[in-house]
This record gives sequence, C-alpha cells and structure tokens, in this order.
Amino acid sequence: MRRVVQVSTGNVGRHALRALIGRPDLELVGVHASGPDKIGRDAGELCGLDRPVGIAATGDVEALIDLAPDCVVYTALAETRPMEAIEQLSRFLRAGINVVGTSLVWMAAPRYAEDWVREPLAAACTAGDSSLYINGIDPGYSGDTLVHTAASLVTRIGSITVQEIFDYGNYDDAEFTGASMGFGTEESAELPPLFLPGVVESLWGPQVRALAANLGVTLDEIRQRTERWFTPDPIGCTMMAVAPGQMAAVRFATEGVLDGRVVITLEHVNRLTAAAAPEWDFPPDGHVGVHRVVIEGEPRVEMNTHLSHPVFDPTDAGCISTAARVVNAIDWVCDAPAGLVAVEDVPQSALMRGLLWAEV
Ligand SMILES: NC(=O)c1ccc[n+]([C@@H]2O[C@H](COP(=O)([O-])OP(=O)(O)OC[C@H]3O[C@@H](n4cnc5c(N)ncnc54)[C@H](OP(=O)(O)O)[C@@H]3O)[C@@H](O)[C@H]2O)c1
Repeated sequence: MRRVVQVSTGNVGRHALRALIGRPDLELVGVHASGPDKIGRDAGELCGLDRPVGIAATGDVEALIDLAPDCVVYTALAETRPMEAIEQLSRFLRAGINVVGTSLVWMAAPRYAEDWVREPLAAACTAGDSSLYINGIDPGYSGDTLVHTAASLVTRIGSITVQEIFDYGNYDDAEFTGASMGFGTEESAELPPLFLPGVVESLWGPQVRALAANLGVTLDEIRQRTERWFTPDPIGCTMMAVAPGQMAAVRFATEGVLDGRVVITLEHVNRLTAAAAPEWDFPPDGHVGVHRVVIEGEPRVEMNTHLSHPVFDPTDAGCISTAARVVNAIDWVCDAPAGLVAVEDVPQSALMRGLLWAEV
C-alpha cells in the first residue's frame, strides 16, 4: 500500500483525488489546497463525492512532508508560477518523497527539457534519493505513448503528425488556459503568452526532441507556428463569452525539420464551440475531441483517441485521463531508481490499474 498526498484540487486535481480514494493499492494520507476557502474541508467534499473521507485539506507543505508519504501527486497549476512550483516540488523531493505530476509540462520529456527547469529538479531528486515523473495527455500520451504504439506498426516512417483537436468550450479554466491562449482577446491586443516567440516550442519541443532521439535522427531545426481565429458572431460557452472580433480558436504547432522537410509535427487545434474556425480540422465522426497520431509510412497508420464519460463531459474525461497518466505510475515510480523518470522508462503494462475498483 503506497501512502499518497494529493497537491491541488483543481480540474485535474479533483479527478486525481477521485482516483486515489478507494483504491486498494493506495492510501490517501493528505491533501494540499491553496485556496483559503478550501483549507479545512474534507477531500471527499472537495472532489465532489457525497461522503467525507476523513482527510482535511491543508495549506501547510511542511505538515504534509512530516506525514512521510511514499508519493505526492502534484497537479497544482505551475506554468504561471514555475519557479515557485519547482521550489515546492523540490521540497518534497529533497525530503525523500517521490512525486508524480501533470504540472510543469516542460518536464513531460525530462531528458530534453531546458536546463532551468530540469537541473534544480534533478538535483533535488539526487539530494533526496527520490524520483519525479511528469506526464499527461498532451504534452504526454499523444506525443509519446500513442506515437510509440503507432510507430511500432510501421517499417518505414515518412512523417509523424500528432494532433490534439479539442473543443475547449466546456473547459472551466478561463484564468489559465483561456488567458494563456488568448481566447476572448482582440487582434489589436497584446499577444497572449502562448503566442510569444519560442513559447510553443519551449513547451512541446522536448517531446519533438525525444521522438527524434527515439528515431535516431538529428533534426536540422525545431520551429513553431501559430494562428488565431477571430469570430464574426458572438459565442457563449462555459469557458467565457466571446464577442464579435474576439479570438475563439487557436492553431499552433511545434515542427521538427529534417533535410528541409517537416517530419515531426505536434499540433493543437483548440476552439470554443463547434462554431469556431469552421475551416480548420474537426475531430472525426462528430466527436468533441481527438488525440490523434498519423504516421505516413509503410503502412500509413492513423490512431484516434476519443475520451468520454457517462456522467462527466469530455473535458472532464480528458482531466481524468491526465490524472490517470500519473496516478497509475505511482507504484512503479516509488520503486524506480532516484532521478527524473521519462515515459520510456516505465513499462506500459505497469500502468494498467484496476478492474472497476472505483466506488465513486
Ligand atoms: N499535459 C496535459 O495533458 C495536461 C492536461 C491538463 C492539465 N495539465 C497541467 O496540469 C496542471 C493542472 O491543470 P488544471 O487544469 O487542474 O489547472 P487549474 O484547475 O487551473 O488549477 C489547478 C489548481 O492549482 C492550484 N493552484 C493555483 N494557483 C496556485 C498557487 N499559487 N499555489 C499553489 N497551488 C495553486 C489550485 O488548487 P487548490 O486551490 O486546490 O490549491 C488550482 O485549483 C497545470 O499545470 C496544467 O498545465 C496538463
């Protein structure tokens, strides 16, 4: 039984909590929340269960370290506060506590992450003899496991295209996803953070480099492209209300170039409702979203992943899977040698968990 602390109760965090609670192989021993309105409240209530589980949320990191858990699941928003998140993660790691997480998405391919984020975390693992594993769906699954699976079916690869095509209309995250992508902004406004030079490449570039290394090729160049779509009509959705002339869809990609040809593309097409950007790609068969890889080669392979749930909407289904990518790795990461864990290190069969264990 692994003793686990959950850090954050946001979109991904509350589904990580639901994954942890009631699992026979994991024991939830603590929960961190930063919002004053959440501190002192029961973890069951914070993740929408109709029963308490006897663990109250705290804002005291030291008290959670004193619990000496085997692992922390870190899903606190980190991209807007990276140095603070690195310090918080490092405190757990230096104390000998393993961490799995979905935050600091630069670290989804840790061996190719930039020094400023990789080095302090690697040093904290060494100091504490602990391990850190960061993953998710995208970055994560679609640019690693999905590609590895598809590429294993192909004898000669011409190009790899990974896409997240997803309607973010139901995503209740105007503060981070909305603001960083610039939904609801006008063309004349300052560029949103994601569209600043180098940002897309910084976030998805490590996965492109990892794929090139897996293929044994040295890319000439890694570059980014970005496009915004401004709506002529008003659009209303959970994320926000978008007025005519404001941005309601984004398309951006990180590309790996070899011999003057784009051979690896990691692309996002994100829109607020199906009314946005009608000329851009849509998920197949009326789905709200797809995580997809297309390999042009011998043979051509296309693998489409659609997530859904009988109760939650597809955005929540994506958050459940994001949480699953790391919660399911807890057992393996706890036994791993100290250091940064890459997806290539973890046997995929080790990530299979449970046969309808959950009582939620
Ligand atoms: N790779 C992927 O596929 C993928 C997919 C989705 C998300 N993510 C990443 O996972 C992380 C969580 O995403 P999300 O959608 O769950 O984000 P979110 O709902 O916007 O925020 C998560 C939580 O972070 C905590 N938080 C916010 N500011 C904080 C601060 N200053 N200090 C400490 N905690 C703070 C809050 O939880 P409390 O109030 O409970 O503390 C908040 O609810 C992000 O870093 C995101 O980029 C990755």
